[in-house]
Amino acid sequence: MQAALEGRTALVTGASAGIGAATARALAAAGAHVVLTARRKARLQALAEELKSATALELDVRDAGAVSAALEAHPVDLLVANAGLAFGTELFQDGDPAEWSVMVDTNIKGVLHAVRAALPRMIAAGRGDVVLMGSVAGRQVYPGGNVYNATKYALKGLYEALRLDLMGTGVRLCTVDPAMVETEFSVVRFRGDEEAASKVYDGMRPLTPVDIADAILWAVTRPAHVNVGEIVLWPTDQASTRDVTRRS
Ligand SMILES: NC(=O)c1ccc[n+]([C@@H]2O[C@H](COP(=O)([O-])OP(=O)(O)OC[C@H]3O[C@@H](n4cnc5c(N)ncnc54)[C@H](OP(=O)(O)O)[C@@H]3O)[C@@H](O)[C@H]2O)c1
Repeated sequence: MQAALEGRTALVTGASAGIGAATARALAAAGAHVVLTARRKARLQALAEELKSATALELDVRDAGAVSAALEAHPVDLLVANAGLAFGTELFQDGDPAEWSVMVDTNIKGVLHAVRAALPRMIAAGRGDVVLMGSVAGRQVYPGGNVYNATKYALKGLYEALRLDLMGTGVRLCTVDPAMVETEFSVVRFRGDEEAASKVYDGMRPLTPVDIADAILWAVTRPAHVNVGEIVLWPTDQASTRDVTRRS
């Protein structure tokens, strides 16, 4: 039997860790050729060696020219715009504008440029899949979420508007919005403090990157007339961005 994604080429941003790496594995296992992108090339190369068919490409999504060139060199019919990050949980009034810029440039502008560069070829072909990595932080706020919340709300707005612009093109658009997933996300958020990062998951069972990758794979392997629009994934132990059951 033919694998579900045989003959397809996917590009995953932020494939060097966490959700992006798990998604790349899932797409490759389903038969896609996967272009793995992120800033840490050594990690991408190690992952590429593990996969059946993959290319490792160093790419900072904040560099719009490099993003366009990557998609020119690697025509894809499946884009997972996943690269993203948060810094800190300080109140807005205590925040660092330099860190806000990195979040805005990565989480919003990085996604805009990648989607813009990927779409013309998909539209010309009359098919393709764009997956945006949103978050429940783009649906509900929480204290200290401020600028990270704003970037993920921006993606939710993009999702809503782009659905309209893509009408009639045959290109499918999906936003995948997870709650707590245990990855390096919290280590980055706490600026390398691994102890603070691990406390985020104390006494509760978070989602894993594989849980998110499964959902993405399911969405992009539906028949062409089915567009899975929004996937919101919560750990069973979490009811909102502010309500988490902790057993210890
Ligand atoms: N973990 C969660 O609880 C959670 C929940 C909801 C949504 N999300 C979203 O899921 C996505 C992936 O996060 P994760 O949890 O898998 O975190 P992660 O393990 O820290 O992975 C983040 C990925 O983004 C890449 N990245 C960061 N800045 C980049 C840049 N400028 N250019 C290219 N790649 C960049 C990193 O690669 P390099 O450092 O090698 O560039 C890494 O591969 C993010 O958009 C995040 O907002 C996470």
